[in-house]
Amino acid sequence: MPPSVDPNPHLSPTHTFVIKKMDGVSFYADTKMFISRKAVEQVIEAIKADGIKKVLCLLGGGSTKTTGLWDRITKSLKENGIEYCELWGVQPNPLISKVREGVAMCKDPKNKIEAVLAIGGGSVIDSCKAITAGAKFEGDIWDVYLHKAAPPTDQLPFYTILTLSATASEYNQGAVISSPEEGKKLPYFFLNRPVATAIDPTVQFTLPWRQVMCGAVDATSHLLEQYFSTPNETDSTRQINLALQRSIIKSMEKIKKNEKDYEARANFCWAVSLALNGIAGLGLGQDWNVHYIEHAISAVDDKIAHGEGLAVVSHAYYKFLWKRGVAKEMFEEWAQVVYGTSNVEEALKKFDELLDFWGAPKKLTDLGLKEADIPKIVKIEQEQNEMGINSPLLRLTADLTTEILKATL
Ligand code: NZQ
Ligand code: ZN
Repeated sequence: MPPSVDPNPHLSPTHTFVIKKMDGVSFYADTKMFISRKAVEQVIEAIKADGIKKVLCLLGGGSTKTTGLWDRITKSLKENGIEYCELWGVQPNPLISKVREGVAMCKDPKNKIEAVLAIGGGSVIDSCKAITAGAKFEGDIWDVYLHKAAPPTDQLPFYTILTLSATASEYNQGAVISSPEEGKKLPYFFLNRPVATAIDPTVQFTLPWRQVMCGAVDATSHLLEQYFSTPNETDSTRQINLALQRSIIKSMEKIKKNEKDYEARANFCWAVSLALNGIAGLGLGQDWNVHYIEHAISAVDDKIAHGEGLAVVSHAYYKFLWKRGVAKEMFEEWAQVVYGTSNVEEALKKFDELLDFWGAPKKLTDLGLKEADIPKIVKIEQEQNEMGINSPLLRLTADLTTEILKATL
């Protein structure tokens, strides 16, 4: 999903797409990033240094307890004299109902919550952003997602302890929330990034390979969607973007051989965070169709992981773009720099092989969906596009989205 490239909180995602050169852009990423075996303790010390006396700890479904991370966090909170209360149960493809629960806790003066500490992956951190904004918002924060309310102008401070590198939510303002009752999964860009983020690569040693694969696919997709854009003269950003793609491929090879390789994990985590903090897309036109289609897929079935849906769509989408002659020069540069070939078809084949090497799904049926589900996905994608999210490279009509999805069968 598109990062904000401007500190203006009222900037809608659509506005970022018209920027195609280094003129009229601005960049800031004011999160303190700790990457260390001691990062968890460092971020808690940062909370104390900020004078915060009580936090709401926001967590997912329990992996934090089984890995022993929760004991480590509570020990450090106690040692630093920081009080805490807990909200567990944020699920993957996080729900607005859980966000509302968190908002109510923060708004209750009895709880005396001064900040939120998100402990988890993108789903927990995204929920944290909506909760911290909702806590300072008069109405229902979901109305902001539906563009039925003015953007929030204030937010509680929040900190993150990352347990899964994938979304870069630990370094950006984005927050994707779902409402299954309405069949919607929508992004929003809040006012603030985390004050500080802890990345302890050892915390990710125990991740199931499926989650590691999803993280690599997600970050690669963020890079590809920023890279394949309308013609631009922004060579510096394009080269940063391509270098990050290469680095993710290299680290993944090492992690596959040894899941406890600290340096490979740390490099991977950093590349993933940089893939969507704005730096890899600054001054590029950007085309987020793969994410828009994927968000519709996981709105149809919230058991589908974001990275898995992306793998299926991107596998078809870039071949589709190349056949239509879109972004030809960029395809050639990408083929050369990332895959060392002047033949774009060959690079696309290598990209397919990379997905296989990572163990990513490539067909809609691998996700448990079938041809009869395509109209549902297309309907959601088109409704979400009507709400103002679309890409400049290819305007997705219902027919085009159907064609792309049929190519994934
Ligand atoms: O809930 P628990 O038990 O903690 O388990 C989680 C969850 O089931 C597990 N997990 C996390 N860390 C672990 C671990 N298991 C073992 N060891 C660990 N160290 O992983 C599962 C998936 O977690 P989740 O947070 O859902 O994954 P991810 O980080 O991929 O986040 C996906 C969500 O982020 C949104 C996606 O759409 C999706 O809803 N996105 C957010 C973006 C942003 N804020 O900028 C951009 C992305 O493009 C994306 O759209
Ligand atoms: Zn993503």
